[in-house]
Amino acid sequence: MFKIQTLNKIDPEGLKLFPLNNYEIASELPNPDAIVLRSFKMHDMELPSSVKAIARAGAGVNNIPIDKCTENGIVVFNTPGANANGVKEAVIAGLMLSSRDIIGGVNWAKTLIGEGDAVGSLVEKGKSNFAGQEIKGKTLAVIGLGAIGVLVANAASALRMKVIGYDPYMSVKHALKLSREVTWVEGIQVLLQQADYVTINIPLTPDTKGYINKDKFAMMKDGVKILNFARGGLVDHKDLKDALESGKVSKYITDFPDEDCLKMDGVISIPHLGASTAESETNCAIMAVEQVREYLENGN
Ligand code: MLT
Repeated sequence: MFKIQTLNKIDPEGLKLFPLNNYEIASELPNPDAIVLRSFKMHDMELPSSVKAIARAGAGVNNIPIDKCTENGIVVFNTPGANANGVKEAVIAGLMLSSRDIIGGVNWAKTLIGEGDAVGSLVEKGKSNFAGQEIKGKTLAVIGLGAIGVLVANAASALRMKVIGYDPYMSVKHALKLSREVTWVEGIQVLLQQADYVTINIPLTPDTKGYINKDKFAMMKDGVKILNFARGGLVDHKDLKDALESGKVSKYITDFPDEDCLKMDGVISIPHLGASTAESETNCAIMAVEQVREYLENGN
């Protein structure tokens, strides 16, 4: 009998792949063989010595103490690509929200409750306060050409944006095989100086913490819009505040709000909804469970 501890709610379509005659699954149980989780932060948790594998139903693993796991011989799995389509669709929504004041307009429309027959004429008078810009013909810079970055690039290209890309960990030669929709550039400076919009799609590691900082902002056009559906720590929030205040950045769309971001003007804070779709949750759970089973049952 294998014991599986779940530290977050895991999609039942995945969990049902653990055969009940061989597996016990619970959020709390002694001596688990494996842990399955989503965004639970494990850094302060005591790791039971019985644990052989940890599977994150998601791509990022920055909530798991990788070094500690390596020292203890614990294998860590993630599910790269399984939620990439969900995140891509959220990035495209963010792109739209950065250019069209749909949120402001919707909130204003609610204030018209009680105006009765006057609503139509008030809408016609007030709507000019919420006019936006189109993204067609604008340049989107994609930083990071993993599963999500490539899908975003292809979708933006279908929306008739000019898409340029750069990956700090990939050669242009290799990147060219991933998407024909992207014009690859060799360096971050060349990328940033052309961009009307920047989407960050790299993992957060000790090397990429604060990757978008004052030096990178200085390379960007005035009024650039930045989308961060990767991890909050990739952007230096103090430098971001300065860049927003000076008008260097006109909008920052983040899927990782913190107290600082929530207070800043020009920031749209989304409560980590990038992969929160039924389809992504199911795909990630299935991939995570399959990996755990394969490891516990066959050692692969
Ligand atoms: C990921 O790491 O896959 C995304 O941020 C979504 C999630 O945390 O579940």
